Amino acid sequence: MSVLRAIILGAGYRGRAYAEYAKDHPDQLEIVGVADPVQAQSIPAKRYWNDWRECLESHPEADVVMVTMPDNLHYEPSLMALKAGYHLLLEKPIAPTEEQCREVIECALEQKRLVVVGHILRYTAYFAHIKALIDSGELGEVVSISHQESAGFWKVAHSYVRGNWANSKKSSPIILAKCSHDFDLFVWWIGKKCKKVTSFGSIKLFRREMMPKGAALRCIDCPPAVERRCIWSARNMYVEHDELKYLFADRSDEAMLKLIEETEYGKCVYQADNDVPDHQTVTMEFEGGATVSHVMTGFTAQNIRTTRIALTRGEIVGDGENLDICRFDGNAVATGVPVNYRIPNRSRHGGGDFNLVSEMVRMLRRADPDEIRETTEQALQSHLICFAAERSRLAGGRIVEID
Ligand SMILES: NC(=O)c1ccc[n+]([C@@H]2O[C@H](COP(=O)([O-])OP(=O)(O)OC[C@H]3O[C@@H](n4cnc5c(N)ncnc54)[C@H](O)[C@@H]3O)[C@@H](O)[C@H]2O)c1
Repeated sequence: MSVLRAIILGAGYRGRAYAEYAKDHPDQLEIVGVADPVQAQSIPAKRYWNDWRECLESHPEADVVMVTMPDNLHYEPSLMALKAGYHLLLEKPIAPTEEQCREVIECALEQKRLVVVGHILRYTAYFAHIKALIDSGELGEVVSISHQESAGFWKVAHSYVRGNWANSKKSSPIILAKCSHDFDLFVWWIGKKCKKVTSFGSIKLFRREMMPKGAALRCIDCPPAVERRCIWSARNMYVEHDELKYLFADRSDEAMLKLIEETEYGKCVYQADNDVPDHQTVTMEFEGGATVSHVMTGFTAQNIRTTRIALTRGEIVGDGENLDICRFDGNAVATGVPVNYRIPNRSRHGGGDFNLVSEMVRMLRRADPDEIRETTEQALQSHLICFAAERSRLAGGRIVEID
């Protein structure tokens, strides 16, 4: 079978993660071009451009465009690529506004192109196993789901207080940036559309009023007595510990020091440019009556998702790694782990990154128009829940119906 040719727009963390698949599977995927103003050459390819527009205007020969640039650079490149006939691997969010998301998906349906959105959770063995259990029908129908996204105190400070997704006007609301993954799972598991949403949430801690006395604008200038007691000290997070280094191409001590001296990642968490909630709760009602309650909070030691699913004939309880499955009639559960979801070693997100690319390759080789249309249509559903939740939160928890 022919090798799929892909172009990557944005050679950052996500672009590099998907490019790894081509290294491991050259018989399936070739990266033929990369556009990035700063680090294009970090991915091996035949051609390079400094900017996505320059790349697409040169009409390179390829099958797929991977849009892995910041959130505000998804909409225009995606539309341009679809109209030029490319399929898309599009990082979430599809776009920062509901209208733009709908326009991208409508354009893909008109052009009969596939849009695979970077909802990597459904491509992990753990979440795919839950899907297989529900689809087996052994436990009956889903009645309610209670799900917590424990975002991890360090991760929230990095991405949603200091970093790329801290300010909704510059990127998108946290419920879209962080939780579209979870809402995609609910839509996928229940297999129906969400009809009604309510939501509450706010910034509990990361506000100027909560700043310790004497704190400086940058951690590097903070009095040692204040900095020592600060859990979110940038020096502590980026120089002394390794948890966040995987996000950067250059992880040397010099690069990390420069990061906290010169970029937003060195700013005091109480004086950053953030406006997104550090905790948010969403309640949903789906067609057929199933309900979901979703809690996203930044005040947890681990970055993990925990789930309880109540079905008419049994229960699934997951701690993010292991599943506890119970049938009310006492019989053993027969469904095993789906064999096609192996976890390759170099794939992050529990194997989700590689499995997503592998699924995209499979779908494009198979070229079944129904599968392409259904996958593309379903990508929008999680985003519609996010926008409804944000409207509800801003209106003090009003019920918002999804059209
Ligand atoms: N699916 C997931 O789990 C997941 C995880 C993290 C991020 N994301 C999403 O992936 C996207 C990228 O995030 P990231 O963490 O890789 O960010 P990043 O900052 O590491 O990478 C973005 C890259 O885009 C490049 N870029 C900026 N302007 C450009 C232009 N005009 N032309 C070409 N390239 C340009 C930047 O130089 C950078 O290298 C975001 O939309 C983010 O929300 C998804």
